[in-house]
Amino acid sequence: MNQKLISHILLFFFCIGCVSINNSIMAQNAPDKYEAKVDSLMNLMTLEEKIGQTVMYSGGWDKTGPTIRTDFEKHVKVGNVGAMLNVYTVKGTREMQKLAVENTRLGIPLLFGYDVIHGHRTIFPINLGLSSSWDLDLIEQTSRIAATEASAEGLHWTFAPMVDIARDPRWGRISEGAGEDVYLGSEIAKAYVKGFQGDDLSKTNTILACAKHFVGYGAAQAGRDYHTVNMGEEELRNVYLPPFKAAVDAGVETFMTAFNEVNGVPASGNKFLFRDILRGEWDFKGFVVSDYTAINEMIQHGFAKDSIDTARLAMHAGIDMDMMGEVYRLHLKKLIEEEAIDVALVNESCKKILMAKFKLGLFDDPYRYNDEQREKETIYKPEFLKVAREAAAASNVLLQNKNEALPLDKTKTIALIGPLAKDEFHINGNWGGAGDRKGKSVSIYEGLQDYLKDSQMLYAKGCEIESEDEKGFQEAINAAKKADVVLLVMGESYHMSGEAASRTNLRIPGNQTKLIKKIREAVPNKKIILVLMNGRPLNLSDEVNEVDAILEAWYPGTMGGSGVADVLFGIYNPSGKLTATFPRNVGQVPIYYNMKNTGRPIPERDPKEDYKSNYIDVPNTPLFPFGYGLSYTKFEYSDLKLSDTNIGFNDTLTADITITNTGNYDGHEIVQLYVHDKVGSITRPVKELKGFQKIFLKKGESKTVTFNLTAADLKFYNDENKFTVEPGEFEIAIAPSSDFKFKHIFTLKE
Ligand code: GLC
Repeated sequence: MNQKLISHILLFFFCIGCVSINNSIMAQNAPDKYEAKVDSLMNLMTLEEKIGQTVMYSGGWDKTGPTIRTDFEKHVKVGNVGAMLNVYTVKGTREMQKLAVENTRLGIPLLFGYDVIHGHRTIFPINLGLSSSWDLDLIEQTSRIAATEASAEGLHWTFAPMVDIARDPRWGRISEGAGEDVYLGSEIAKAYVKGFQGDDLSKTNTILACAKHFVGYGAAQAGRDYHTVNMGEEELRNVYLPPFKAAVDAGVETFMTAFNEVNGVPASGNKFLFRDILRGEWDFKGFVVSDYTAINEMIQHGFAKDSIDTARLAMHAGIDMDMMGEVYRLHLKKLIEEEAIDVALVNESCKKILMAKFKLGLFDDPYRYNDEQREKETIYKPEFLKVAREAAAASNVLLQNKNEALPLDKTKTIALIGPLAKDEFHINGNWGGAGDRKGKSVSIYEGLQDYLKDSQMLYAKGCEIESEDEKGFQEAINAAKKADVVLLVMGESYHMSGEAASRTNLRIPGNQTKLIKKIREAVPNKKIILVLMNGRPLNLSDEVNEVDAILEAWYPGTMGGSGVADVLFGIYNPSGKLTATFPRNVGQVPIYYNMKNTGRPIPERDPKEDYKSNYIDVPNTPLFPFGYGLSYTKFEYSDLKLSDTNIGFNDTLTADITITNTGNYDGHEIVQLYVHDKVGSITRPVKELKGFQKIFLKKGESKTVTFNLTAADLKFYNDENKFTVEPGEFEIAIAPSSDFKFKHIFTLKE
């Protein structure tokens, strides 16, 4: 009897076995439900087949790392591959899946993963923009839609959310995350995981999420991508680990390693991170994939002597899958034969990967995500585009609005100027997934057409994004002179943020600012509004003095032009607030609101006092702080009321405040709760966000907003790495941004 027939008979009895096991253990919870099935499948597998599950190749439909020519189809056909990235569409994934299911001995299906970071086809604002909405329901909704579109195109897994805390805008990947704050970043991490994974992974519109990049990637020295990360365990545990723990608490199924080293040990070989913390302390049950060739890079790090060594180090560290490195496929068998690693480690990795495939239902039907009709009906659904428009508007942050330059008057003629005014290419930002960059996205120009006749728009590109060429200046100046109001749309190219896109200069690139100044000279009394498309906090110290209004639009995505136009004309009252600090200049970086006080803080009474922790050329304060954003209306905060000024470890403190909309527009307000632990066994940040609520108030309306705080909310890791809370005095405030002075104190007693 030939080998293939034997295999199929084996597989037949295996499937029969699964059905009977299924019936008997359906009641058990998810992990147990599949344990027995996985074990019986693994009993049929050879060592090579188990190693094959730990191997991932790129299908090359998208370039997300150094190009490496591999004959992945040959490896797939012989069972040497467990997952593919950068392949999508029903047709593309089905063809690849057939190679595995119909050619290999046991027909184990592949996992298909892709970077669905802020949308799949319908692209939402970049994640730093989405985080500026502070709207957890909206963020969950956008990732739910992204999962629905991605799964309709045959994808099982997204390499998101990126939950790296980032305090350095030189780092291009600050664009992919939720900014600088631990509490907000943790809440947003949970929202993404819930959106991608839904409540039942066996449903075909849910996909595996992936918390990345574990850990500390955003702390790369000097904001230079992939650079060294060094920090004390206190900072690691109090700042960089919590959003990953939040993702685990939300049930994230996979993790991805960071490229960087952490205190001398590259993440992909870091047992402390992946065995001690992730699995030991947090009891994470999912699997870990390396970042793109990150295992191999331990040679360049100077941590491994050769690629065999990298495979040994990574497997010992608990990295279950090798993305594009080929080191697991090439070396694991030999390492086991030489007893350099225990086969149990490979079995454990293979088991976790198979568990994920069972949860997705791929063993019931490897083609269950390959439905052409569903694909056609799902992509760019009108209701998805509607959410994309809302998300684009809700992500906008109004940074300045002198002389009430905004909202725009629909009866006026505007000069629409700037290299991004008609853009449909950059508007989706970096990590634009399978989104379209050739006309599907709504440009700002097109968005304005919902409100203005073409005759009311005098368009002039004016300049390029990154050029010193001034030949377009005069046309722009002429348009500015003729129009009633000037609308500039400027910023960065999308290549200037995201991976491998760090900048040492945070200014608007090229000669865009020079054009702004020339236009201001030409029309000194006209209102000038600057709309920004960029992937990081910028140094706007010049622009704030040249223009009346600044609207931070980030890269607003497929419906970006419509969402931004809704804000510009006041249909949507801007409500976004910064989640990453905008510095006065790059010399202040890293700058973030929850810093330590130091022993020589600048005195409020006399900032010019000598020998203080300050610069001689700029103030310590940022240009725009964390939590800041304007509205077209005004919100008044009444005095804070506390339920008590003394609370015990088991009590709950209630803090109430009344917010009143005293302006002329209905609008949302993001109300923020901050505390300051005045004295600790280690120094504590000068302020920490511990809660927020996004409320809606009609003009003239008041609402009382209540926050509850317990001792558990005040815990931190002390210098013995103990997660603890200490009695003492705490300052507390409820404010519209992180720029405030505390006025209230409570005492926490044991
Ligand atoms: C890239 C990125 C990572 C991404 C992966 C797969 O290098 O670092 O975020 O998910 O490769 O594209």
